Formats: sequence, C-alpha cells, structure tokens
Amino acid sequence: MRTTQLASLIFLVLLETFAASSVGLAQNSASLPVAAPAASTALPRVEQKNGHFALIVDGKPFLMLGVQANNSSAWPQYLGRVWPAAEALHANTVELPIYWEQFEPRPNEYDYSLVDQILTESREHHLRLVLVWFGTWKNASSHYTPEWMKTDQKKYPFVLDKNGQTVDSPSVYSPARLEADKNAFRALMSHLKTKDPQHTVLLVQVENEAGVWGSVRDFGPEANQAITGEVPAGIVKKLGKKPGTWHEVFGEDADEYFQGWCTASYIEQVAAAGKAVYPLPLYVNAALRDPFQPGKPPSYESGSPTDNEIDLWKAAAPSIDIIAPDIYLPEYSKYTRVMDLYGRADNPLLIPETGNSADYARYIYAAVGHGAIGWAPFGLDYTRYSNHLEGPEAMEPEALKPFSRQIGLLAPISDLLAKANLDGRLRGSSEDPDHHAATLAFEHWKVQLEYGMPPFGMGMEPKGNHPADGGALVVQLTPDEFLLAGHHVRVDFAPQVIADNPAFVTGKKRFWLTVEEGSYDAAGKWKIVRLWNGDQTDYGINLKADEDVLLKVRLTTY
Ligand code: DGJ
Repeated sequence: MRTTQLASLIFLVLLETFAASSVGLAQNSASLPVAAPAASTALPRVEQKNGHFALIVDGKPFLMLGVQANNSSAWPQYLGRVWPAAEALHANTVELPIYWEQFEPRPNEYDYSLVDQILTESREHHLRLVLVWFGTWKNASSHYTPEWMKTDQKKYPFVLDKNGQTVDSPSVYSPARLEADKNAFRALMSHLKTKDPQHTVLLVQVENEAGVWGSVRDFGPEANQAITGEVPAGIVKKLGKKPGTWHEVFGEDADEYFQGWCTASYIEQVAAAGKAVYPLPLYVNAALRDPFQPGKPPSYESGSPTDNEIDLWKAAAPSIDIIAPDIYLPEYSKYTRVMDLYGRADNPLLIPETGNSADYARYIYAAVGHGAIGWAPFGLDYTRYSNHLEGPEAMEPEALKPFSRQIGLLAPISDLLAKANLDGRLRGSSEDPDHHAATLAFEHWKVQLEYGMPPFGMGMEPKGNHPADGGALVVQLTPDEFLLAGHHVRVDFAPQVIADNPAFVTGKKRFWLTVEEGSYDAAGKWKIVRLWNGDQTDYGINLKADEDVLLKVRLTTY
C-alpha cells in the first residue's frame, strides 16, 4: 500500500468513526470502512447541538428541500417525469421508493439495475436521494413483497383479526419473511456502500408507514401466546413502568403497544442488518393519529410510530435514527402540534411526506423554523397522477407552483438555514388562518409578523390572507442583524427590554439602519441589489405573495 493510499484510508476511518459517534447513529457498526474511490466524502449523519439538529452532508449542515415521487414513478420509463418536476420545484433531494418485488424477483437474486439507474440519473440532475424501502410494509400492507412471497401465504402469513379473519397486513410471526427482508435490505445497503461513494443517497427509510390497519393487533396463535408474556425489560425501563405482562403494564392499551413492539422490533432487525454494512442515517415514517382527539385503533394505524408510541419505538428500534411524521393534516393547529410531538431532544424533526395541495406549501416556513432537517411534499411529479381527495383534483404542472415559489425562495440559502438551525439562530412561522399575527423572539428583538395588512396600513388589525398562504423565516446573523425570507406577510421588529443595556430600556423603539435587498453569490458573499427605505420600510416591511426577495436588516433603537 502506498503512503498516499494509507493516508486516505486512515482519513476515511477517522471520518467514519467521527460520523458514527454522532447522535442517533448505531454505535454497533462492526465493519471497518473499506477504502472507497477518491470521490468519497464523509457519510451523511445527524448532528445535535444544544437540542438543535442538522443533517450533515459533505461535512456541512444540509437542509433537505425534498419531494417524494408518486408510488409507481420510480420505473425506468417514468424517471424522466420525476427529475424535471423536482427541478421545477427547486428541490435539492428526491425521495424514491425501492420496490422489493422488483429488487428480488427470485429468492436471493437481487436486481440492482433500477437502483443504479436512479443513482446515475439523480447525479446527472444534481439531485440528492432519499431511498424509501418498500419492503415488508407499505401503508400497513405487504403489497410490495415479491410474487414468490405473495403466493406462499403459509410461510409468509397475514395478520389475523379478533375473529380469525385475514387482515391485509403482514404478520411479524414469519421468520422467513423477516430473514428475507433483512437479507434484501442488507444487499441494498451493501450495494449503496459500493456504488455511492459520493453519497448521493442521504437517508434511507426502512419500510413505509408500517403497522396494521383494521385490527388493533395480530390475533394469530403466536401473537396470542406472546402477549401473555412479560414486556421486555428495556421497554419498561425506557417507559419508566414497573415490570409485568403486557396487560399489567399497559392495561386496556396492551394490544396496541404490543403491536407497536412487534412492528418496531421487526424493523429494528431489518435496519440493523443494513446499518451493519453501511451506517447511513435510517428513519421510519408514521401514519399519524389526530394529535388532539386520537381515539383508539383501528381508527388509526395500530403498532405504527404514532405519537403515543415514540418512546416505545425509540427503545425497541435503536438502529432507527429518526421517527418521522407524514403530515397530511392541513389544519394549522394540527400541523404545528405534530411538529411539537415529533421534534424532540431525542428525535430530529424530519417531514418526509406532506400533502401536495396548495395549502400545504406555506408550511415549509413553520417546519424549517421548527428545526426540521428536511421537508418534502408527496406526489409532485409529471406523471399527472393525483391523489385526490387528499391532494388537488388534477396534478398538472400548475399544481407545483405554490411549492416551487416557497422552495425556490429558500433553495439559494438552504445551507445558511441549515447552519442557523443547528446554531439555534433561526425562527419561522406559517400563516394561521385563525390568528393573523405571530411573534418570533430573539435575544435583542421580537419579530412581528402580520398577515393581510395593506402596505400603508398602520395600527390596523391584520385581516389575514384568503387563502392563508403567508409565512416567513428569520435568521439572526448578529444580535442586531437579520436575514428575512418570506411571502405574503408584513414583518416588523420591536426591541426586547434588556436589563443593563441602555439601547433596550423600556420605551425604546425600532430604528432601521439599513434594509438591503440582495442575494448570496456562489462563494456565500452577500451582494446588495438595492436599499429599501421610505415607503418600503416606514410602515414595516411588506413581503409580497408573488415576489421572491431576500432582505438583510440591520437595526438599532431610538
Ligand atoms: C402516505 C404513504 O406513505 C405514501 O406512500 C402514499 O401512499 C401517500 N400516503 C398517498 O397520499
């Protein structure tokens, strides 16, 4: 081995050791990294700093401005309708399914052709990838398992409901399916390790909305036996409960929590198998329950990582770095409540799917302002498939516009946003149709957002926009200097009252020093286009719905 090769191998080992020590990554990755081609960069990883998170890509914080293609769009003849839509949206990442039925057409024979094509084409389009493993579960069913599995239902059984009826959901009591899923997922991750030294793939989703619809749990014979046993010690400890059987520990919710544990511990084994060969950050996505009036299963998907089961999933599936909500709840109060429930000190907020009707577009501001490391509307591609009633009636290119407007504004500053988020210097908000004003607090300043204000209106009550489509992000650059990005909102600042600081005593008012319109060049240097003053600032800053401006604001008091 030549000295330079040795040096690069040592460098890679150090990089991967550093990566594996970051938050959430499995500590049990047994394999030493194999020297990769020169193009190799550090593995993507999740970093935590003082309770804030970032996805680190190529050594820097990266904000995933994503889009997920429709379920049947990741086929060779259809990929050409995915990339241009992502480009029109200004997305930097595309989430694409990998179909088990395509990947393993015959037992233990893996077909990598589609993965390779996806890697090649995404690179040609300068897009990063999130791969979504449609394995044992897809929306609680097993419709993506290979045909040889579908036709052997004795070996690969379904869940049985209370009445012994078959439910369209895979039972975890199938050692053969678990083994096959582990092997296939390991093969996929191993292939990525070899074929993706440049880390086009940032994250991998393990299964899709796993759980059971239509029955609170599996009532098959093995499950009926297992639920009479003790809850595993690691789970009771993590949940702060006293040891006992499932019924003793969880009472009337025993069936649901038992099913959660079944799903999570199965997925843990699949995830661990993949991670042992290639430790990319892994996540699961959740079909949500109503965050205010959840009811009980089967009104929502049972055994899924719903908000009540996050602790259990954290305990049962440590190889999963992120439990991510798929947010298809258009109401402001529900959307923001879900972000509170899933963005936790032990769980970075990642929104891998959200609705694709226009009213969801503004939520990018609230999500990023809430610390999200990524946000992706679902089903925006040029296949023209519309998931109406959930989405718009027709999915024509026009339907992408509300999203391309918001993502397009943020894309040029996505690195800056990701870094500011990790440092805790970013706040954001989306318009709440019931409250037309919001306040974002920084150390020296409060940022006041008002929706539906006439540009010259002063001291008026904001009326809100109809529809409510506004939002803004504010980055603190220095204590008295901010970057603003937003649409359809009036922005103003008011000084905080700070003891011992004469500029911030009671009664002091905001005084603009400069309001610069501009942009960052490729080297990250701010270039001023013009100064806003006079009518453009005397009544506050009015960001229009259909204009994309970045403003750098410097403030003092008088
Ligand atoms: C959530 C699922 O995860 C997606 O695969 C897709 O089925 C969407 N729902 C449809 O809205």
